[in-house]
Amino acid sequence: MTEMRPVTEAAPQTAPVKTLALPDAQTVTFVKHWTDRLFSFRVSRPASMRFRSGEFVMIGLMGDPDPKTGKQKPLLRAYSIASPSWDEELEFYSIKVQDGPLTSKLQHIQPGDEIILRPKPVGTLVHDALLPGKRIWFFATGTGFAPFASLLREPQTYEDYDEVIITHTCRQVGELTYGAELIESLKTDEMLNELIGEGFWKKIKYYPTTTREESPKMGRITDLMRSGEAFADLGVPQINPDNDRAMVCGNLAFNLEIKEMLEGYGLVEGANSNPQHYVVEKAFLD
Ligand code: A2P
Repeated sequence: MTEMRPVTEAAPQTAPVKTLALPDAQTVTFVKHWTDRLFSFRVSRPASMRFRSGEFVMIGLMGDPDPKTGKQKPLLRAYSIASPSWDEELEFYSIKVQDGPLTSKLQHIQPGDEIILRPKPVGTLVHDALLPGKRIWFFATGTGFAPFASLLREPQTYEDYDEVIITHTCRQVGELTYGAELIESLKTDEMLNELIGEGFWKKIKYYPTTTREESPKMGRITDLMRSGEAFADLGVPQINPDNDRAMVCGNLAFNLEIKEMLEGYGLVEGANSNPQHYVVEKAFLD
């Protein structure tokens, strides 16, 4: 995709039409639509870009030309990187909002197209922000699964913890598929089994729940924890600051509710500069 420089009245008639490459352009290599509301895609990775699994970057497309000036501005949103830090490409997992300024367009990308990617990764869902512990909890709703798709493929996750519990609450069963398939794929991923250790995936306990469509486990994870049902199902004791660490990524109401619950269990919020027991990131929506 290229930006056409608007031809102004002052420009000589014979001037060649210049095309400007997108700033920070990366090429789309793969797109998969999971439901009518969700899709994932992969893009080339800038050669010099380093990041920590769990971080996010700003990505986007050129916006529509300004009706008055004809100028286009980049339309960027924060997206968690869903691929791990060692991957050659970058993966993203996105919602499609039909009237969303960015995702109404982004959902139509095809392999070979270009997107804008500002190569400045940041974020709090990183291992550096947590103190050592026995068990790590990844709490996700909806597209909040994305940073955990990265961290579940990150060797350090398994070096640092004996158990990795990933909960994912969605409205519909189909919204769980991206995460469910990713976790299932770890079992047969030869490179990861060699790199991290044969059978590393046995440390994972996956706890998917739905709230608006029938599935084996119904309900919000917050309610299932409050009642004790989630802990009983998983065969683990209630969360406590001695053993448990947590990362949270979901919609705002979910983040606030689970934050309050984690504080109630005695966990303290950490940051890159002050590692503690849990960290929270918003799942960014259009
Ligand atoms: P619910 O259907 O009961 O609202 P959304 O698509 O709106 O971002 O929601 C994703 C999932 O997160 C839904 O299953 C939704 O459940 C759940 N959810 C929303 N708010 C909360 C909350 N405060 N605590 C726990 N789960 C929540």
